Amino acid sequence: MNFELTEEHLSVQQAARDFAQTELLPGVIERDNKQEFPAEQIKKLGELGFLGMMVDPKYGGSGMDTVSYVLAMEELSKIDASASVVVSVNNSLVCWGLENFGNEEQKQKYLVPMASGKCHGAFLLSEPEAGSDATSQSTTAVDMGDHYLLNGTKNWITNGNTATYYLVIAQTDVEKKHKGINAFIVEKNTPGVTVGKKEDKMGIRGSDTHSIMFQDVKVPKENRIGEDGFGFKFAMKTLTGGRIGIAAQALGIASGAYELALAYSKQRKAFGKEIMHHQAIQFKLADMATQIEAARLLVMKAAWLKDNHLDYNMAGSMAKVFASEVAMWVTTEAVQVHGGYGFVKEYHVERLMRDAKITQIYEGTSEVQRIVISREILK
Ligand code: CAA
Repeated sequence: MNFELTEEHLSVQQAARDFAQTELLPGVIERDNKQEFPAEQIKKLGELGFLGMMVDPKYGGSGMDTVSYVLAMEELSKIDASASVVVSVNNSLVCWGLENFGNEEQKQKYLVPMASGKCHGAFLLSEPEAGSDATSQSTTAVDMGDHYLLNGTKNWITNGNTATYYLVIAQTDVEKKHKGINAFIVEKNTPGVTVGKKEDKMGIRGSDTHSIMFQDVKVPKENRIGEDGFGFKFAMKTLTGGRIGIAAQALGIASGAYELALAYSKQRKAFGKEIMHHQAIQFKLADMATQIEAARLLVMKAAWLKDNHLDYNMAGSMAKVFASEVAMWVTTEAVQVHGGYGFVKEYHVERLMRDAKITQIYEGTSEVQRIVISREILK
């Protein structure tokens, strides 16, 4: 067993850490307050190759492994989870899905610009009544011969307004249930596509979350991904890898809050000494560090399994459920270590605590992860 990172891993980690400090940290509080999308920062991340990290360079990507990707996700998420979710969705859901299941024409037309960071994409699965129960799609894609006609509404779509291309999951044949579901590439500027209101969220407020409506949208037949009826499997396979990215995001939120709590405990004095000298604080820091390390091992194991073409379904869900619970707990403790200062925006930890919550919800709730894990255990 080798726990050492390679030179390449260390350099990606350092590059992401530097970017987070120099480009994401300035203005992160203001962007959160104003719900402002980090457009400039995402553009730069794209130019540096962070939006297509695992994609083959022949399709405009950086050709790195999943371990590199989770290292970058952790570093970016320590500072700005609203930016890192864009990195996660574009890498794990959009680019990975297209590279693995798209045909050559689709890759050239859609993957290349998104992997090279010229634009980014969104993944449209959730609906007003199909979140965890993803087979109950009510968005329809009726086969009209040379095209599909798309109708319906998608909810809580990350990158809903800023994406150039959407990967949309829709029901083509109700009788066939999940085997009648398809996945399509839809260009956002297609007639009949309407971007709904921006959600006013508790956390990751800088990210761009909208509902998207489709009314008689003509989708060319060549924009279907895979064989007819492959859409549900496409979504599941894609989300399985996506969960590793969100687990790394949760890990980053936790470690960001822990680093702030540690630094604060060294400078804040109470009862005549720095609070790090009080056992009440020392035990909190010890527990935070231990939980984070356990989460990191699960995230790395899942990434390693994926890189080695081994089954990572259960490992990804374990990493996500554990890391997201650690993120919630550690950020709450970090606010506590900061006392009254933790409750005000200037000290960052309250934002990290709000941001942590979504990691227990998106790309499969903690309950969905437990369904996946228990099915694997019992099969
Ligand atoms: N890989 C490949 N295939 C899979 C799979 C996987 N991980 N999981 C299920 N499947 C296949 C099954 O093998 C089955 O295929 P067959 O019929 O050929 O046997 C088919 O899919 C149906 O599987 P299930 O019967 O297990 O499906 P289910 O209805 O019981 O659902 C579930 C299982 C795990 C709960 C699933 O619905 C699920 O993951 N739900 C959560 C969806 C989700 O993550 N939503 C997040 C939205 S996207 C998002 O958040 C992005 C963002 O903005 C940040």
